[in-house]
Amino acid sequence: MASATPASYSIPQKALHWLMALLIFFNLILSDNIEAWDHAMDEGNVTPEILAGANIHAYVGIAVLALGLLRLILRFTQGAPAAPANEPPLFQLAAKLGHAAFYVLFFAMPITGMMKYYGDIDIAGGLHAEPIKIALWLVIVAHIVAIPVHHFVWKTDVATRMTKG
Ligand code: HEM
Ligand code: HEM
Repeated sequence: MASATPASYSIPQKALHWLMALLIFFNLILSDNIEAWDHAMDEGNVTPEILAGANIHAYVGIAVLALGLLRLILRFTQGAPAAPANEPPLFQLAAKLGHAAFYVLFFAMPITGMMKYYGDIDIAGGLHAEPIKIALWLVIVAHIVAIPVHHFVWKTDVATRMTKG
């Protein structure tokens, strides 16, 4: 059950937001090691160095899964501040759906990765490396583009709600 609507995100919610953003960008941008593992698996020549590099991707991704679970619990127990009433209702809805999509991706991305890495399930690897990855990038880009829109177009405090707000 969500608590009464708070005035701002709690400090743990803010810390989790930025820590998870860092870990997610790390895995999205620095994916060479895991891709090298994937190629080496195909060719049957995985070395200890390749495995060590791939494990960094796996552990960072598993951390995203664990922190995502914690964050979901906080979201249900502490809630989230309401969207400013003067923002267009359609965009308020888009923000809600976008945030919900993030939570789905916090689980879908690591779980499909684990299925491929530990279970050798190719179809999960394909979903992880293509459609789910692309969906994550799209939600991130929309999320970042929304920041100046809140600030300069609607002139609301949303842009600072994950920092000082
Ligand atoms: C991988 C990158 C990111 C992810 C996955 C992410 C995810 C989220 C999620 C799920 C929320 C909703 C609050 C919650 O339930 O915890 C949120 C809110 C927020 N994010 Fe991000 N975020 C990312 C990057 C960023 C960046 C780079 C910025 C700033 C430039 C940013 C600024 C904000 C702000 C200001 C809010 C508050 C919005 C509101 O109050 O409705 N985020 N983020
Ligand atoms: C939020 C967490 C994660 C993100 C953002 C992420 C991101 C990525 C990216 C960008 C790639 C390269 C895709 C490409 O070829 O362009 C990739 C591949 C891969 N990742 Fe992850 N990953 C995450 C979690 C995990 C976890 C937890 C595991 C396993 C424990 C994992 C295992 C893999 C594997 C096996 C591949 C190669 C898949 C293939 O090409 O078939 N990932 N990941």
